[in-house]
Amino acid sequence: MLTDSYQRKHDYLRVSITDHCNLRCEYCMPPEGVELLSHDEVLRNEEFIRLIGIFVSLGVVKVRFTGGEPLLRRGFIDIVAAARDRFPDLELCLTTNGTLLADFFPYLRRHRLRKLNISLDTLSRARYRKITRRDCFENVIGSIDLALEDPGFDVKINAVLSADTIAELDDFLEYFKDRNASLRFIERMPFTAESGNGTFLPSDRLVEELAARGELTRDRAIDTNVALMYRLMYRGRYPIRIGVIPPVSNKFCASCNRLRLMSNGNLKTCLHSETDHGLKELMRGGADDAAIAREILAAVSQKHEGHRLECRAGEGGCCALVNTGCMSKIGG
Ligand code: 5AD
Ligand code: SF4
Repeated sequence: MLTDSYQRKHDYLRVSITDHCNLRCEYCMPPEGVELLSHDEVLRNEEFIRLIGIFVSLGVVKVRFTGGEPLLRRGFIDIVAAARDRFPDLELCLTTNGTLLADFFPYLRRHRLRKLNISLDTLSRARYRKITRRDCFENVIGSIDLALEDPGFDVKINAVLSADTIAELDDFLEYFKDRNASLRFIERMPFTAESGNGTFLPSDRLVEELAARGELTRDRAIDTNVALMYRLMYRGRYPIRIGVIPPVSNKFCASCNRLRLMSNGNLKTCLHSETDHGLKELMRGGADDAAIAREILAAVSQKHEGHRLECRAGEGGCCALVNTGCMSKIGG
Protein backbone atom coordinates (compact mmCIF):
# COMPACT_ATOMS: atom_id res chain seq x y z
CA MET A 1 0.00 0.00 0.00
CA LEU A 2 1.24 3.48 -0.92
CA THR A 3 0.97 5.21 2.45
CA ASP A 4 2.76 8.51 3.02
CA SER A 5 4.12 10.02 6.21
CA TYR A 6 0.71 11.65 6.90
CA GLN A 7 -1.01 8.22 6.77
CA ARG A 8 -2.72 9.02 3.48
CA LYS A 9 -3.30 5.92 1.35
CA HIS A 10 -2.83 6.36 -2.38
CA ASP A 11 -4.95 4.05 -4.49
CA TYR A 12 -5.74 6.38 -7.39
CA LEU A 13 -3.38 7.08 -10.27
CA ARG A 14 -3.92 9.77 -12.87
CA VAL A 15 -2.01 9.11 -16.05
CA SER A 16 -1.35 11.94 -18.46
CA ILE A 17 -0.80 10.03 -21.70
CA THR A 18 -0.01 13.01 -23.90
CA ASP A 19 0.90 16.65 -23.43
CA HIS A 20 -0.77 17.56 -26.74
CA CYS A 21 -4.06 19.38 -26.74
CA ASN A 22 -6.30 20.70 -29.49
CA LEU A 23 -7.68 23.48 -27.26
CA ARG A 24 -5.88 26.40 -25.64
CA CYS A 25 -7.97 27.02 -22.54
CA GLU A 26 -7.02 30.35 -21.06
CA TYR A 27 -6.70 28.99 -17.51
CA CYS A 28 -4.38 26.25 -18.72
CA MET A 29 -2.00 27.63 -21.31
CA PRO A 30 -1.00 30.70 -23.30
CA PRO A 31 -2.56 31.31 -26.75
CA GLU A 32 0.48 29.97 -28.56
CA GLY A 33 0.41 26.74 -26.56
CA VAL A 34 3.32 25.29 -24.65
CA GLU A 35 6.49 23.59 -25.74
CA LEU A 36 5.79 19.93 -26.39
CA LEU A 37 7.82 16.90 -25.48
CA SER A 38 9.77 15.18 -28.22
CA HIS A 39 8.58 11.74 -29.34
CA ASP A 40 11.36 10.00 -27.45
CA GLU A 41 10.65 11.80 -24.20
CA VAL A 42 7.09 10.47 -24.05
CA LEU A 43 6.43 7.03 -22.61
CA ARG A 44 5.60 4.31 -25.11
CA ASN A 45 2.39 2.31 -24.77
CA GLU A 46 4.15 -0.67 -23.20
CA GLU A 47 5.96 1.60 -20.76
CA PHE A 48 2.66 3.08 -19.59
CA ILE A 49 1.25 -0.41 -19.19
CA ARG A 50 4.26 -1.63 -17.28
CA LEU A 51 4.18 1.31 -14.88
CA ILE A 52 0.43 1.03 -14.38
CA GLY A 53 1.04 -2.63 -13.51
CA ILE A 54 3.61 -1.68 -10.87
CA PHE A 55 1.22 0.88 -9.35
CA VAL A 56 -1.54 -1.74 -9.29
CA SER A 57 0.79 -4.17 -7.51
CA LEU A 58 1.29 -1.42 -4.91
CA GLY A 59 -2.44 -1.00 -4.29
CA VAL A 60 -3.77 1.32 -6.98
CA VAL A 61 -7.38 0.37 -7.83
CA LYS A 62 -8.38 3.29 -10.04
CA VAL A 63 -6.66 4.80 -13.07
CA ARG A 64 -7.79 7.94 -14.85
CA PHE A 65 -6.41 8.80 -18.27
CA THR A 66 -5.86 12.51 -18.76
CA GLY A 67 -3.71 14.76 -20.92
CA GLY A 68 -3.38 17.23 -22.52
CA GLU A 69 -6.23 15.69 -24.40
CA PRO A 70 -5.87 11.91 -24.06
CA LEU A 71 -7.92 11.13 -27.18
CA LEU A 72 -5.25 12.82 -29.29
CA ARG A 73 -2.76 10.13 -28.45
CA ARG A 74 -2.46 7.51 -31.14
CA GLY A 75 -2.71 4.22 -29.34
CA PHE A 76 -4.97 5.50 -26.58
CA ILE A 77 -7.34 2.61 -27.13
CA ASP A 78 -4.45 0.15 -27.21
CA ILE A 79 -3.38 1.36 -23.78
CA VAL A 80 -6.94 1.07 -22.46
CA ALA A 81 -7.35 -2.39 -24.01
CA ALA A 82 -4.07 -3.63 -22.52
CA ALA A 83 -4.90 -2.19 -19.11
CA ARG A 84 -8.31 -3.85 -19.17
CA ASP A 85 -6.87 -7.13 -20.36
CA ARG A 86 -4.22 -7.25 -17.65
CA PHE A 87 -6.30 -5.81 -14.82
CA PRO A 88 -9.93 -6.91 -15.18
CA ASP A 89 -10.96 -5.27 -11.92
CA LEU A 90 -9.17 -1.96 -12.33
CA GLU A 91 -11.52 1.03 -12.44
CA LEU A 92 -10.74 2.91 -15.64
CA CYS A 93 -11.74 6.55 -16.09
CA LEU A 94 -11.20 9.28 -18.64
CA THR A 95 -10.93 13.05 -18.42
CA THR A 96 -11.46 14.62 -21.82
CA ASN A 97 -12.31 17.94 -23.41
CA GLY A 98 -14.96 16.06 -25.41
CA THR A 99 -14.00 17.42 -28.82
CA LEU A 100 -13.09 13.99 -30.23
CA LEU A 101 -15.11 11.78 -27.96
CA ALA A 102 -17.98 10.85 -30.30
CA ASP A 103 -15.91 8.25 -32.19
CA PHE A 104 -14.68 6.50 -29.08
CA PHE A 105 -17.84 5.23 -27.40
CA PRO A 106 -17.77 1.69 -28.87
CA TYR A 107 -14.21 1.19 -27.61
CA LEU A 108 -14.90 2.65 -24.21
CA ARG A 109 -17.89 0.32 -23.82
CA ARG A 110 -15.89 -2.68 -24.98
CA HIS A 111 -13.13 -2.07 -22.43
CA ARG A 112 -15.47 -1.05 -19.63
CA LEU A 113 -14.18 2.47 -19.28
CA ARG A 114 -17.34 3.97 -17.86
CA LYS A 115 -16.38 7.06 -15.91
CA LEU A 116 -16.18 10.12 -18.12
CA ASN A 117 -15.28 13.59 -16.95
CA ILE A 118 -15.98 16.00 -19.77
CA SER A 119 -14.85 19.61 -19.60
CA LEU A 120 -17.43 22.23 -20.45
CA ASP A 121 -17.19 25.71 -18.97
CA THR A 122 -19.98 27.38 -20.86
CA LEU A 123 -23.09 26.82 -22.95
CA SER A 124 -22.36 29.80 -25.13
CA ARG A 125 -20.54 29.03 -28.34
CA ALA A 126 -18.97 32.48 -28.35
CA ARG A 127 -17.73 32.17 -24.81
CA TYR A 128 -16.49 28.66 -25.50
CA ARG A 129 -14.38 30.08 -28.28
CA LYS A 130 -13.10 32.82 -26.02
CA ILE A 131 -12.12 30.42 -23.23
CA THR A 132 -10.70 27.60 -25.33
CA ARG A 133 -9.56 29.75 -28.28
CA ARG A 134 -11.02 27.10 -30.59
CA ASP A 135 -14.40 26.58 -32.23
CA CYS A 136 -15.36 23.10 -31.05
CA PHE A 137 -18.45 23.79 -28.98
CA GLU A 138 -20.85 21.72 -31.12
CA ASN A 139 -18.58 18.66 -31.05
CA VAL A 140 -18.44 18.76 -27.28
CA ILE A 141 -22.16 19.23 -26.77
CA GLY A 142 -22.83 16.45 -29.30
CA SER A 143 -20.47 14.10 -27.46
CA ILE A 144 -22.00 14.89 -24.10
CA ASP A 145 -25.47 14.12 -25.41
CA LEU A 146 -24.27 10.83 -26.90
CA ALA A 147 -22.60 9.85 -23.63
CA LEU A 148 -25.75 10.65 -21.69
CA GLU A 149 -27.85 8.42 -23.97
CA ASP A 150 -26.01 5.40 -22.61
CA PRO A 151 -26.78 4.75 -18.93
CA GLY A 152 -23.64 2.59 -18.82
CA PHE A 153 -21.55 5.75 -18.66
CA ASP A 154 -21.15 7.81 -15.52
CA VAL A 155 -20.81 11.35 -16.85
CA LYS A 156 -19.46 14.33 -14.96
CA ILE A 157 -19.32 17.77 -16.49
CA ASN A 158 -16.33 19.80 -15.27
CA ALA A 159 -16.59 23.57 -15.37
CA VAL A 160 -13.85 25.88 -14.13
CA LEU A 161 -15.37 28.69 -12.06
CA SER A 162 -15.11 32.30 -13.08
CA ALA A 163 -17.22 35.40 -12.61
CA ASP A 164 -18.97 34.52 -15.88
CA THR A 165 -20.13 31.21 -14.43
CA ILE A 166 -22.60 33.06 -12.26
CA ALA A 167 -23.97 35.06 -15.20
CA GLU A 168 -24.52 31.81 -17.05
CA LEU A 169 -25.63 29.63 -14.19
CA ASP A 170 -29.28 29.47 -15.22
CA ASP A 171 -28.39 28.41 -18.76
CA PHE A 172 -26.25 25.64 -17.33
CA LEU A 173 -28.88 24.40 -14.90
CA GLU A 174 -31.59 24.67 -17.54
CA TYR A 175 -29.60 22.58 -19.99
CA PHE A 176 -28.69 19.84 -17.53
CA LYS A 177 -31.85 19.82 -15.42
CA ASP A 178 -33.22 16.63 -16.99
CA ARG A 179 -29.99 15.12 -18.20
CA ASN A 180 -28.37 12.50 -16.03
CA ALA A 181 -25.02 14.18 -15.42
CA SER A 182 -23.28 15.44 -12.31
CA LEU A 183 -22.17 19.03 -12.66
CA ARG A 184 -18.86 19.85 -11.04
CA PHE A 185 -17.61 23.36 -10.55
CA ILE A 186 -13.88 23.67 -9.94
CA GLU A 187 -12.10 26.67 -8.51
CA ARG A 188 -9.59 27.96 -10.94
CA MET A 189 -6.13 27.08 -9.70
CA PRO A 190 -3.16 29.32 -10.36
CA PHE A 191 -0.06 27.60 -11.67
CA THR A 192 2.31 30.53 -11.63
CA ALA A 193 2.68 33.59 -9.48
CA GLU A 194 1.42 35.68 -12.43
CA SER A 195 -1.86 33.87 -12.84
CA GLY A 196 -3.47 35.42 -9.79
CA ASN A 197 -6.00 37.66 -11.47
CA GLY A 198 -9.46 39.08 -11.14
CA THR A 199 -11.29 36.14 -12.66
CA PHE A 200 -10.96 33.87 -9.64
CA LEU A 201 -14.34 33.02 -8.13
CA PRO A 202 -14.39 31.35 -4.70
CA SER A 203 -16.74 28.39 -4.61
CA ASP A 204 -18.72 29.88 -1.69
CA ARG A 205 -20.05 32.47 -4.12
CA LEU A 206 -21.32 29.70 -6.38
CA VAL A 207 -22.99 27.93 -3.46
CA GLU A 208 -24.83 31.16 -2.54
CA GLU A 209 -26.04 31.51 -6.10
CA LEU A 210 -27.17 27.88 -6.26
CA ALA A 211 -29.10 28.29 -3.03
CA ALA A 212 -30.93 31.23 -4.59
CA ARG A 213 -32.18 28.96 -7.38
CA GLY A 214 -33.85 26.16 -5.47
CA GLU A 215 -33.63 24.05 -2.34
CA LEU A 216 -29.95 23.18 -1.91
CA THR A 217 -29.02 20.21 0.26
CA ARG A 218 -25.52 19.13 1.19
CA ASP A 219 -25.23 15.40 0.52
CA ARG A 220 -22.16 14.31 2.48
CA ALA A 221 -22.91 10.66 1.75
CA ILE A 222 -21.80 11.15 -1.85
CA ASP A 223 -18.86 13.50 -1.24
CA THR A 224 -15.73 12.40 -3.05
CA ASN A 225 -12.19 13.05 -1.89
CA VAL A 226 -12.23 16.38 -3.67
CA ALA A 227 -15.86 17.34 -4.24
CA LEU A 228 -18.39 18.62 -1.77
CA MET A 229 -21.66 17.24 -3.08
CA TYR A 230 -24.98 19.02 -3.18
CA ARG A 231 -28.44 18.26 -4.46
CA LEU A 232 -30.28 21.20 -5.97
CA MET A 233 -34.02 21.03 -6.48
CA TYR A 234 -33.96 23.38 -9.42
CA ARG A 235 -37.13 25.39 -9.95
CA GLY A 236 -38.82 23.13 -7.40
CA ARG A 237 -38.93 20.19 -9.81
CA TYR A 238 -35.60 19.10 -11.17
CA PRO A 239 -33.09 17.40 -8.87
CA ILE A 240 -29.56 18.15 -10.04
CA ARG A 241 -26.38 16.62 -8.56
CA ILE A 242 -23.74 19.27 -8.13
CA GLY A 243 -20.17 18.91 -6.94
CA VAL A 244 -18.13 21.86 -5.74
CA ILE A 245 -14.37 21.44 -5.87
CA PRO A 246 -12.56 24.11 -3.84
CA PRO A 247 -8.82 23.36 -4.08
CA VAL A 248 -7.93 26.96 -3.31
CA SER A 249 -10.43 28.23 -0.75
CA ASN A 250 -10.86 24.96 1.15
CA LYS A 251 -8.03 22.68 0.36
CA PHE A 252 -8.62 18.95 0.52
CA CYS A 253 -4.98 17.87 0.80
CA ALA A 254 -5.68 15.94 4.03
CA SER A 255 -7.81 13.41 2.14
CA CYS A 256 -5.66 13.24 -0.99
CA ASN A 257 -5.36 9.72 -2.38
CA ARG A 258 -3.93 10.52 -5.80
CA LEU A 259 -0.66 10.22 -7.62
CA ARG A 260 0.17 11.49 -11.09
CA LEU A 261 2.18 9.87 -13.80
CA MET A 262 3.14 12.40 -16.46
CA SER A 263 3.58 11.55 -20.14
CA ASN A 264 7.35 12.04 -19.78
CA GLY A 265 7.45 9.27 -17.20
CA ASN A 266 7.79 11.54 -14.18
CA LEU A 267 5.81 10.77 -11.07
CA LYS A 268 4.33 13.74 -9.24
CA THR A 269 2.92 13.05 -5.82
CA CYS A 270 1.00 16.34 -5.87
CA LEU A 271 -0.34 18.50 -8.69
CA HIS A 272 1.39 21.47 -7.10
CA SER A 273 4.69 19.87 -6.23
CA GLU A 274 7.93 21.08 -7.75
CA THR A 275 9.54 17.70 -7.32
CA ASP A 276 9.33 15.14 -10.10
CA HIS A 277 10.46 11.57 -9.71
CA GLY A 278 11.82 10.24 -12.98
CA LEU A 279 10.57 6.70 -13.53
CA LYS A 280 11.34 6.60 -17.27
CA GLU A 281 15.09 6.95 -16.81
CA LEU A 282 15.03 4.16 -14.27
CA MET A 283 12.95 1.96 -16.55
CA ARG A 284 15.01 2.66 -19.65
CA GLY A 285 18.15 2.11 -17.62
CA GLY A 286 17.08 -1.50 -17.13
CA ALA A 287 15.61 -1.37 -13.62
CA ASP A 288 13.37 -4.28 -12.71
CA ASP A 289 9.84 -3.88 -11.36
CA ALA A 290 11.00 -4.18 -7.76
CA ALA A 291 13.47 -1.31 -8.15
CA ILE A 292 10.82 0.90 -9.77
CA ALA A 293 8.38 0.01 -7.00
CA ARG A 294 11.00 1.06 -4.42
CA GLU A 295 11.40 4.42 -6.17
CA ILE A 296 7.62 4.94 -6.16
CA LEU A 297 7.41 4.07 -2.45
CA ALA A 298 10.28 6.47 -1.70
CA ALA A 299 8.56 9.26 -3.67
CA VAL A 300 5.28 8.72 -1.81
CA SER A 301 7.03 8.71 1.55
CA GLN A 302 8.41 12.19 0.72
CA LYS A 303 5.02 13.63 -0.25
CA HIS A 304 4.47 16.93 1.46
CA GLU A 305 1.46 17.76 3.55
CA GLY A 306 -0.32 20.13 1.23
CA HIS A 307 -0.16 22.62 -1.57
CA ARG A 308 0.72 26.28 -1.15
CA LEU A 309 -1.89 28.03 -3.23
CA GLU A 310 -3.02 31.23 -1.62
CA CYS A 311 -6.26 33.08 -1.82
CA ARG A 312 -5.71 36.82 -2.09
CA ALA A 313 -9.00 38.00 -0.71
CA GLY A 314 -9.60 41.64 -1.52
CA GLU A 315 -7.42 41.48 -4.59
CA GLY A 316 -9.96 39.18 -6.19
CA GLY A 317 -7.39 36.64 -7.16
CA CYS A 318 -5.13 33.96 -5.94
CA CYS A 319 -1.65 32.85 -6.71
CA ALA A 320 0.70 29.92 -6.54
CA LEU A 321 3.74 30.28 -4.35
CA VAL A 322 5.59 27.70 -6.38
CA ASN A 323 5.79 27.48 -10.13
CA THR A 324 4.84 23.97 -11.14
CA GLY A 325 4.24 24.45 -14.83
CA CYS A 326 1.29 23.77 -17.02
CA MET A 327 -1.78 21.67 -16.29
CA SER A 328 -1.72 20.10 -19.74
CA LYS A 329 1.62 18.50 -18.92
CA ILE A 330 0.74 17.30 -15.45
CA GLY A 331 -2.73 16.07 -16.24
CA GLY A 332 -5.83 17.96 -15.15
N1 5AD B 1 -7.77 25.38 -12.55
C1 5AD B 1 -8.75 24.46 -12.37
N2 5AD B 1 -9.02 23.49 -13.26
C2 5AD B 1 -8.28 23.45 -14.37
N3 5AD B 1 -8.31 22.62 -15.43
C3 5AD B 1 -7.34 22.97 -16.27
N4 5AD B 1 -6.66 24.04 -15.80
C4 5AD B 1 -7.24 24.36 -14.62
C5 5AD B 1 -6.99 25.37 -13.65
N5 5AD B 1 -6.04 26.29 -13.81
C6 5AD B 1 -9.31 21.55 -15.57
C7 5AD B 1 -10.06 21.59 -16.86
C8 5AD B 1 -10.51 20.19 -17.01
C9 5AD B 1 -9.48 19.41 -16.30
C10 5AD B 1 -8.66 18.66 -17.28
O1 5AD B 1 -8.67 20.32 -15.59
O2 5AD B 1 -11.17 22.38 -16.88
O3 5AD B 1 -11.79 19.95 -16.48
FE1 SF4 C 1 -8.08 23.00 -22.07
FE2 SF4 C 1 -7.57 20.62 -20.92
FE3 SF4 C 1 -6.48 21.30 -23.27
FE4 SF4 C 1 -5.67 22.50 -21.03
S1 SF4 C 1 -5.40 20.36 -21.50
S2 SF4 C 1 -6.09 23.47 -23.05
S3 SF4 C 1 -7.61 22.58 -19.89
S4 SF4 C 1 -8.67 21.04 -22.85
